[in-house]
Amino acid sequence: MACQAKALTLLLSILVVSFCKPSDGAGIAIYWGQDGYGGSLYDTCASGNYRFVNIAFLSIFGNGRNPRLNLEANCDPNAGGCTWLSNGITSCQKQGIKVLLSIGGRSGNYSLSSADDAIKVAYYIWNSFLGGHESSSFRPLGDAILDGVDFYIDTGSGLYWDDLARALHGFSGQRKVYLAAAPQCLFPDEHLDTAIKTGLFDYVWVQFYNNPRCHYSGDANNLLNGWKQSWIKVQANQVFLGLPAAPQAAGGFIPVDVLNSQVLPSINTSPKFGGVMLWNKYFDNEYSDGIILDGTKLISPA
Ligand SMILES: *[C@@H]1O[C@H](CO)[C@@H](O)[C@H](O)[C@H]1NC(C)=O
Repeated sequence: MACQAKALTLLLSILVVSFCKPSDGAGIAIYWGQDGYGGSLYDTCASGNYRFVNIAFLSIFGNGRNPRLNLEANCDPNAGGCTWLSNGITSCQKQGIKVLLSIGGRSGNYSLSSADDAIKVAYYIWNSFLGGHESSSFRPLGDAILDGVDFYIDTGSGLYWDDLARALHGFSGQRKVYLAAAPQCLFPDEHLDTAIKTGLFDYVWVQFYNNPRCHYSGDANNLLNGWKQSWIKVQANQVFLGLPAAPQAAGGFIPVDVLNSQVLPSINTSPKFGGVMLWNKYFDNEYSDGIILDGTKLISPA
């Protein structure tokens, strides 16, 4: 009897461990904050569909510029109107979902003018969004401490992003500062290659969109070749397939049944495959619900 009870306890703990560890296996990273109101961060994370949320974008920074967040219709960060997002960020983190600040974007105004400038920007990010304790700093997203920084550098030169990565990584102490990069799919990426080569990035989610030379366009040959020959080999803990969440979101949309049957089976074989990144929450009406990772279809709670 006692023995049976012990066996049952053991079985239950194995089940609990295998079902309750959100950091294992593949998952979905979503961009939030661009194009329109993407729903609250609380609801985004409560859907159960995502493992990473990138708050996009810190779109103006570097070279002496006054740094500015742009979260479009979601809230106005510059009048202090986004500090309430801290509650959503904390609720995401309680579910094991990592929340990153995404810097850059397609329509921002940003660049780094020197290694010193990179260090200045790193201190600004540390004090304004991460664990910095400089009490004089304004924190646009309130007191919540974000898990790290995502480099979505689409314009300008490739200079000094490696310095920024090293400086941000240098703040990892009691609490790790996670680093992510979103290079465009043509390899090597002109903006982020040097930074990625530092080996400091935990996650690289490749933008397989808005570039017909490497995104999906009726067939997945270019995408799969780029993935296998180059991207899966970059020095990062995990590599993600970045895709539009809807045809209107970006060029290179892959219908979800095609993704599940013709694309994911050829790329999810590597232990470095981290999952799928989606651009972006505003457009993700049902796409993430249909993605099959690790043989389990994601179904959001009703
Ligand atoms: C971008 O920032 C620079 C430096 O602050 C400024 O001179 C320039 O006018 C800005 N460009 C745009 C398009 O806002």
